[in-house]
Amino acid sequence: MPRPLVTVVGAGNVGATTAQRIFEAAIADVVLLDIVEGMPQGKALDLAQAAPVVGHDAKITGTNDYADTAGSDIVVVTSGLARQPGMSRDDLMAKNASIVRSVVQQAAAHSPDAILIVVTNPLDAMCHVALETSAFPPQRVIGMAGVLDSARFRTFIARELGVSVTDTHAFVLGGHGDTMVPLPRYSTVAGVPITELMDPEQIERLVDRTRNGGAEIVSMLKSGSAFYAPAASVFQMVDAVLSDRKRILPCAVYLQGEYDVDGLFVGVPVKLGRGGVEEVIQIDLTEEERSAFLASADSVSELVQKLAEQAAELGLSSVEVAPASGGAMTAEEPAPAAIPESAQQPAGRPAAG
Ligand SMILES: NC(=O)c1ccc[n+]([C@@H]2O[C@H](COP(=O)([O-])OP(=O)(O)OC[C@H]3O[C@@H](n4cnc5c(N)ncnc54)[C@H](O)[C@@H]3O)[C@@H](O)[C@H]2O)c1
Repeated sequence: MPRPLVTVVGAGNVGATTAQRIFEAAIADVVLLDIVEGMPQGKALDLAQAAPVVGHDAKITGTNDYADTAGSDIVVVTSGLARQPGMSRDDLMAKNASIVRSVVQQAAAHSPDAILIVVTNPLDAMCHVALETSAFPPQRVIGMAGVLDSARFRTFIARELGVSVTDTHAFVLGGHGDTMVPLPRYSTVAGVPITELMDPEQIERLVDRTRNGGAEIVSMLKSGSAFYAPAASVFQMVDAVLSDRKRILPCAVYLQGEYDVDGLFVGVPVKLGRGGVEEVIQIDLTEEERSAFLASADSVSELVQKLAEQAAELGLSSVEVAPASGGAMTAEEPAPAAIPESAQQPAGRPAAG
């Protein structure tokens, strides 16, 4: 039986590391695509030459041509600029929207049955661009953020308590950014909620560090942003889909009434299997958690609205944009808005951020 095929678009830090994880686990053959000529080919050849040492027979191709990605089961979108110190995810939006639009248009045309896993920031807004551009059903467009955010939370919990990370479990909901909502009540060590293991100040300190987890690494690296943990997180999602594992993982998905949110990508726990998002898992939230979640959804909505305004200034094509939610989160009529037309980025690798 042929191996599944995974295309990773963007052969930068996150993309190349993701490709390496998938390839070396041999769960799929991999196509690594970038706009920079030669670079994905060079990285793919380098990875292929590691295969005899690592000991597997998977195949990897580096390319600048979407024809080589045809028939992919999964397309991972990591192309775009990364944050630089002092730069918010939102600053990246206009530039990355045009990149994601261009990439998804071409990738979807060659792999109409693929599942898209979006990584490019600002994540939740880029998921909207991917959904609109591909016209795929929403269960086949999934954003990676929650797995990473919970991994960060788990790391800090394990370090604080001096326990194995493997015995920790963490729940993070909401948008990927400063408004993410870590849920201590549902975060556990060997099944015991951390609210019984730490005092509220301790937990708040860890929650705060999780919220700023990406920025903390950006400020240390000086150029570029985190990529090892992001790539590991994408790998977990790819594996859950290809192996039809029915894993319950926090992902950015298009909500259609769940959690009282309609028409927005927000991070929630979902069941991931061969069909993509097979179920949105709804958990009970306290009033406080619910209002933090809705505030987070509101900030995603504002971002998507901003995306529409940026595009309108350029007089570009339309995308449905859900309005910011009110406290009651009733769905209003989606307002037509716009996102940039596809725009190829100039050859040459953009500055990492
Ligand atoms: N969702 C998350 O949790 C998360 C985590 C980490 C990084 N990110 C985001 O992922 C993206 C990639 O980060 P990185 O560290 O790999 O950046 P990077 O700069 O190392 O790599 C980006 C790659 O995209 C390529 N690219 C640019 N335009 C392209 C196009 N039109 N077609 C194909 N390739 C194109 C560049 O040439 C580059 O190789 C950034 O937007 C970053 O903010 C998201």
